[in-house]
Amino acid sequence: MNAPADLTQAFASQADRTLGYRQFTLGSFGFRRDEYFAHISWTTRDGRPLSHTMDVGNFLCALMRDVAWGFFYGGVNFDDVLGTVNHYKSVDLQAGAFNGTMKEAGVDLLENFPTDEIREVFEAMLDDWTNEGFDPFAAPQETGSPYGRKNGHNKAAITRARELATRCVGLKGDLALRTDERGAPVNRQFADVPQDAPELHPEPGFEGEVHAFNLFAFLSRSQVTWNPSFTSVVKHSYMCPTTEEHILPIMHSNDRVEWFFQMSDSIDWDCADKNTGKPLARVIMKAGDMAAMPAYCRHQGYSPKRSMLLVWENGSPKLVYEIQNGDAPQVPVSF
Ligand code: PHB
Ligand code: FE
Repeated sequence: MNAPADLTQAFASQADRTLGYRQFTLGSFGFRRDEYFAHISWTTRDGRPLSHTMDVGNFLCALMRDVAWGFFYGGVNFDDVLGTVNHYKSVDLQAGAFNGTMKEAGVDLLENFPTDEIREVFEAMLDDWTNEGFDPFAAPQETGSPYGRKNGHNKAAITRARELATRCVGLKGDLALRTDERGAPVNRQFADVPQDAPELHPEPGFEGEVHAFNLFAFLSRSQVTWNPSFTSVVKHSYMCPTTEEHILPIMHSNDRVEWFFQMSDSIDWDCADKNTGKPLARVIMKAGDMAAMPAYCRHQGYSPKRSMLLVWENGSPKLVYEIQNGDAPQVPVSF
C-alpha cells in the first residue's frame, strides 16, 4: 500500500529561516538538525522531556541504511540510544529501550508505526537533511561534508536502487554485472583485483542454468560501502557480499543467526547483548575467517581498509517467530 503523497506534510515543519532545514515529528519523537548535529527529542514514559544528540553525518549514514534496507532484519541501532526494530508490517522507533542504563532509569520510549508511515518520514528527512556533495553510502574519503546550512540535495545518491539478484548476478534477465560503461569503475583500493571472467561450457539446453562470474571483480566495482547486495538466492539462502571501509554506520541487532566470511583484508567487530548493550565480544576477522553472529547479539564493524565481506542471511519469513517460540536455535551450533 502506498501512503498518500502528502503524508509528510503532517509531520514536517516549514524550513528553518536561518539554517534551511525542516523539523520532523513521528508520534512522540521530534527530529531537528543544525549545522553539525541531529537532535532527537521525546517525552519519557513518566512525562519528562528528554533529548539526544548525534553527529549529523553519522545520523544520515545510519538513516540511509535503515531507509535503503526497508528497516533490515531485526534492529537497526543508530547508536547506543536511538534505533528501529522491524516487525515486517510495522516498525518500532525507540530511544533508550535497548540501553540498560536508560531502561533502568525509566527514560526510554518505544512506539510502533505502520511501516509506510515511518518510511515516509525517514525518506523525507533523509532528503531534506542531505546536502549536495554528501553521499551517505560513500566512504568518508570519497565524499564531501555533511555539515553546514542547507545546500541543495543529493537525490541521486539517496535513491539508489538496492541491488538484488533474483537467482544470480549475471544470469540472463537478472541483475547485470558491473562495468565501466554502467558507471561502476574499479575502486581505488581494489586496483589489483583481476577482472577476468570464468569460462563457461554448458551442455546444449543448459545455457540458462549453468553460470559463474568473478565475484571479486564484481565487488571491486562497488560504488558504496556497508551495503550488502543479493548476488545469489537459493530459496531463503541469500548471499549478500559487500565492500566495507571505515565504520558500519549502524549497530545491527539480529533476530536470527547471520554468517560473515571475510574475503579480503580485515574487519574488527564489537558485539554486545542486543537488549542491554552490555559488551559481549570483540571478533577480529582476517581474510579467510568466518564467524556467525547469534540471534541475541548486536554488532558493529570497523574496516581500516576497503575490504570484501560476504554476509550470509537466512531470509525465511518464519525464522524470527520460530526463534521466539524456541523452535529454532539462537546460535548456529551447540557444542
Ligand atoms: C550487518 O549488520 O550484519 C551488516 C550490515 C551491513 C554490512 C555488513 C554487515 O555491510
Ligand atoms: Fe548483522
